[in-house]
Amino acid sequence: MEESILSTIGHTPLVRLTRVLPNIPFSLFAKLEGFNPGGSAKDRPALHILQEAMRTGAIKPSTVVIESSSGNLGIGLAQACRYLGLRFICVVDPKTTAQNIRILRAYGAEIDLVSKPDPVTGEFLHARINRVRTLLQTIEDSVWTNQYANLSNAEAHYRTTMDEIATELDGKVDCLFVATGTCGTLRGCAEYVRDHHLGTRIFAVDAHGSVIFGGKPAKRLIPGHGSARRPELYRADLADECLRVTDLDCVVGCRRLVQTEAILAGGSSGGVLSAVERVKDRIPRGATCVAIFHDRGERYLDTVYSDEWVAEHFGDIAHLWRGQPELEPCVMATSHISGRDNRSSSHA
Ligand SMILES: Cc1ncc(COP(=O)(O)O)c(C=O)c1O
Repeated sequence: MEESILSTIGHTPLVRLTRVLPNIPFSLFAKLEGFNPGGSAKDRPALHILQEAMRTGAIKPSTVVIESSSGNLGIGLAQACRYLGLRFICVVDPKTTAQNIRILRAYGAEIDLVSKPDPVTGEFLHARINRVRTLLQTIEDSVWTNQYANLSNAEAHYRTTMDEIATELDGKVDCLFVATGTCGTLRGCAEYVRDHHLGTRIFAVDAHGSVIFGGKPAKRLIPGHGSARRPELYRADLADECLRVTDLDCVVGCRRLVQTEAILAGGSSGGVLSAVERVKDRIPRGATCVAIFHDRGERYLDTVYSDEWVAEHFGDIAHLWRGQPELEPCVMATSHISGRDNRSSSHA
C-alpha cells in the first residue's frame, strides 16, 4: 500500500540485459527509471528539491515554483506541485513537444513559452533562463528550483538512485553508465560511489554537440541528455571517462533494445546502450555493469520510433537493428505469462 503517488517515486527495477549484447563476458543491468510515476528519473530530484525547499522554508504553501524545462523535470515538478498544492510555472520553448505540453497542462502546470532563442548565443536554453529571471522579479513569493545548480538534484540520486543500485548488487558495481544533462544523476551517483568506496568506473554519456565536457555546441535532435551550457553541478572529477553519442547512436540503441529485450526506452537510453557497446571489449570478464535508462519510449514515438522520422533524418538505416537477433520464445517467460493469463482468464 502506498501513501500517495509521490511515495511511489524510486525503487525502480534493475533488469538484467541478456540479449542486446550477446556473448559479453560481463553482467549488464538496466535501471529502468521510466517506472517512476511521472515517467522518468527526474521525478526523484523534482520531489527532493521541493521537499528540501519546504523543509528550509524557501517554499511555503503560497510560493510559486518556476523552472525552465522542456521535458522530464518539468513533468516531475508538475506532478509533485499538483499533489503538494503548489502553483507551478514551466518555462518552455518551441522545441518542447506538443505531447509534453499537454502532459504539463494535464498536471495543472502553467506554460510560459519563450518563442525566440537568446540573441547572443542563439540558444533557447539561455533565453528560457533569462525568462525565468524576469518571472522571478515580477512574481512575488516565487522560487526557481534551478535544476542545473541545485545540490538537491544530485542529492536525490545519491540518496535513492545509487543507493538502490548499490544495495541491490551488494556494492559490486564495477561500471556505471549514466547520461548527462544537468549532471544531477552523474554527480549524485559519483559522490555515492566515492563516499562508499565502491571502486566503480563511471562512464558519463554525453551528446555530440553538448558542451558539458567541452567542445562546441551543435544542433541535437534528441532531448534529455546534453546541454548547451556547462551546469553548475558539473565537476571535472565526477566521471572516469566521457563517451559522446550521436542522435544516430540513440536511435540505433533504442531500436536494438526494443527488438531484443522488449524494452521501449527513451532516446538517451539508446545512447547509453551504444556507449556500453563501444567500450564492451575493455570491460573485464565477470564485471557487473549498470546502465541507467532515464525514461520510457512512449514520448519518442514520433521521433526515435517513427520509421518516417528516422528515414528523414538518417536515411535508410533499418539494417542497423534488423540484423539483431529477434526475440525468441523463452521457457521461463512463457510460463510466467501463462500464469498471468490464468489469473485474468475470467475477464477475457
Ligand atoms: C531522458 C534524459 N536522459 C538523461 C538526462 C540527464 O540527467 P541529468 O539532468 O541528471 O544529468 C535527462 C535529464 O533531464 C533526461 O531527461
